[in-house]
Amino acid sequence: MELKGKTALVTGGSIRLGRAYALALAREGANLAIHYNRSAAPAEETAQLARAEGVEAITVAADFNNPAAVDTLFPQVLNYFEVVDVLINNAAIYLRGNGMETDREKWESQFRINLQTPFMLIQAFARQLPKGRPGRVLNIADAQILQHRPDHFAYRLTKLALVEMTRMFALELAPDITVNALAPGIMLPLADREDVDLEAYAKEYVPLRRTGTPEIAAENALHLLKSDFTTGAFLRVDGGQYL
Ligand SMILES: NC(=O)c1ccc[n+]([C@@H]2O[C@H](COP(=O)([O-])OP(=O)(O)OC[C@H]3O[C@@H](n4cnc5c(N)ncnc54)[C@H](OP(=O)(O)O)[C@@H]3O)[C@@H](O)[C@H]2O)c1
Repeated sequence: MELKGKTALVTGGSIRLGRAYALALAREGANLAIHYNRSAAPAEETAQLARAEGVEAITVAADFNNPAAVDTLFPQVLNYFEVVDVLINNAAIYLRGNGMETDREKWESQFRINLQTPFMLIQAFARQLPKGRPGRVLNIADAQILQHRPDHFAYRLTKLALVEMTRMFALELAPDITVNALAPGIMLPLADREDVDLEAYAKEYVPLRRTGTPEIAAENALHLLKSDFTTGAFLRVDGGQYL
């Protein structure tokens, strides 16, 4: 699909990987709705960077801990844009805790934000897209789910289910809408652990001996969004780490 002139909604699009997806779309000529929760100022900054590429860009707020707020997202965007052609489900939370440490609140918040919200947004996306018009959904998973480990217990389950949901919706929403999953490996240190030397870690544990970057994640996202013959895919972009 040609992205120029299309409109994309990127959840958590104001910072880090979400910003990279948003700006890569802007460089392709796509208009943007940049969703944020707490990062209002970075969202506006991302919108300005996008406008500098010559596209229209708006920011839209919603706390995905609140399902009623999720319901407001598409109406907010459709107040401004006629239709949304691309949805990137990027926003997520990543909470520590193995199975015995995961309490109900940790479980519920991650399932709400990482899985239930993408589900609700895919439904809203499909409902607003006119029949016969091509659409693209990209769900951001995580390559580490290929490894069976109990750390980040609920997070891993949400991302595993997100990949399965990708395949189920790929079948249900064909032929107009493609639904794919991108699974990044190490792209950025955790927001609260930016001092960690990931390069040294990658030299030891990543076959390609380096970390990825937000730009590499975005390049692979664009590939999945542009492809007309790819749906239900799971694209691991991890330098071979989880082979
Ligand atoms: N970083 C990596 O190397 C890596 C590796 C594998 C997979 N991933 C996946 O890639 C995606 C982005 O990763 P990242 O590291 O860039 O994420 P991040 O820095 O943790 O950012 C999370 C994003 O989610 C949004 N968010 C968090 N809680 C929210 C809530 N209650 N309501 C609405 N939005 C909320 C945040 O919005 P606000 O800031 O506006 O609140 C923010 O934009 C995630 O799905 C993550 O699982 C990342």
